[in-house]
Amino acid sequence: MTERPHRNFYGRTKGKTLKQSQQGYLDADLAALSPGDVGWDVNPEREPIDLGALFGGKDVWLEVGFGGGEHMVHQAASNPDVGIIGAEPYINGVAMLLGKIRRAGVENVAIHPGDARDLFDVIPDASISKAFLLYPDPWPKARHHRRRFVTEEHLVPLAKCLKPGAEFRVATDIPDYVRQTMEEVPKYGFTWLAEGPSDWREPWGDWTRTRYEAKAIREDRVPHYMTFRRD
Ligand SMILES: C[S@@+](CC[C@H](N)C(=O)[O-])C[C@H]1O[C@@H](n2cnc3c(N)ncnc32)[C@H](O)[C@@H]1O
Repeated sequence: MTERPHRNFYGRTKGKTLKQSQQGYLDADLAALSPGDVGWDVNPEREPIDLGALFGGKDVWLEVGFGGGEHMVHQAASNPDVGIIGAEPYINGVAMLLGKIRRAGVENVAIHPGDARDLFDVIPDASISKAFLLYPDPWPKARHHRRRFVTEEHLVPLAKCLKPGAEFRVATDIPDYVRQTMEEVPKYGFTWLAEGPSDWREPWGDWTRTRYEAKAIREDRVPHYMTFRRD
């Protein structure tokens, strides 16, 4: 049996009491949209999950920390030929995503309502063709920088899941997060694709504003958009 690693998780998994409608979405919809074999209790050997069965052989994209799910549903609706799997431990966010999935009527999504690291364990090697990390938790204090997503603990398993040539998009409004991303991501098998300032100042052509980005802009912080290619 694979020994379960100790993984600290510092974020929130629950917020304010869910609306009745949101609890209803969780009860009615989540199980059918979650790959059943991600949890350590059901898959202690960490056997790779069957993405072909999940998405019928479509290209698969991955969103880490989808928050309220606005970007994930937007991409799913715009790209019906792709399957998108998202990980988010914050159950209020998962409930928001489920509401959006119902309203948009998209069917090409799967949800891991938990830590992305548990999902990385079981995603087959070199199987994901695009990954999104949008406004990861900023952890502004220097002593907390090692909690950031752009650290070896997350980037090594993420790199393992991505196909050679896959795109990895990172958005952040925190200048020091830009610094750490630029320093760390290329260490783990990625190349930054920017050619000029518009490449990090302008969002991607298929972008939609997330809740967190809207708040950052209201508070006068400046979004940065970084695109990497898996080597
Ligand atoms: C600042 S929020 C941004 C949410 C969303 N992407 C947006 O732009 O509105 C960061 C999100 O990452 C999630 N998160 C933190 N650590 C995570 C992990 N290990 N796996 C998956 N999601 C994680 C948090 O729960 C939180 O919802």
